[in-house]
Amino acid sequence: MLRILVVYSSSEGQTEKVAHHVARQLENKGYAARLVSAHAADDTAAIGDFDAAIVAGALHMGAHGPALAAFISEHAAALNAVPSAFLSVSLSAASDDPADVAGALEAIKDFEAATGWTPRRTQLVAGAVHDRQMGFFKRFLIHTLMARKGVELDPSGNTEFTKWPALDSFVGDFAGLVEKAAGGARTPKS
Ligand SMILES: Cc1cc2nc3c(=O)[nH]c(=O)nc-3n(C[C@H](O)[C@H](O)[C@H](O)COP(=O)(O)O)c2cc1C
Repeated sequence: MLRILVVYSSSEGQTEKVAHHVARQLENKGYAARLVSAHAADDTAAIGDFDAAIVAGALHMGAHGPALAAFISEHAAALNAVPSAFLSVSLSAASDDPADVAGALEAIKDFEAATGWTPRRTQLVAGAVHDRQMGFFKRFLIHTLMARKGVELDPSGNTEFTKWPALDSFVGDFAGLVEKAAGGARTPKS
């Protein structure tokens, strides 16, 4: 059975949800998925062997965060040796302003340059706004930014922009890449 590592870094929880969803999708396809938080010291000590990897990182203040960068730098050689993908989770990914999208793509490039990891696939994933996961200032900042962009937030305090079917389709494409790299002849379960 092919082993796929799924690493994530999340502050308000949406990237964690994305990573869990991706791991479940991979398991449904017959892969052994190992979910690891870049913030958990125990997990970062030994990630074991893997045949492919997906890294999901939340974008905050224009960057994917020092904890994820440190984790990926440490394991860059192992990640570069297998098919890998980077899911960048942000509100820019949900924006119809090309400048926002360009900024998110630039942040991926910066992350690659800083860590020495070159994922074979990269994907912008629309994130979410979870009011209760943020303190006053963060909440104020995000609500102000969203209001300026004319984006309405759900009164429940949870506004999810993530397009789950698009994510599933990305996972399907990535599985194809993994199969090709593994020789194509075997199925995930063999
Ligand atoms: C303090 C703060 C800063 C953020 N900065 C950015 C940013 O620079 N670019 C962006 O596209 N989204 C930004 N976001 C939105 C997050 O990327 C989005 O809410 C994402 O879903 C967060 O993922 P998480 O819930 O896994 O932390 C920011 C959110 C917060 C709370």
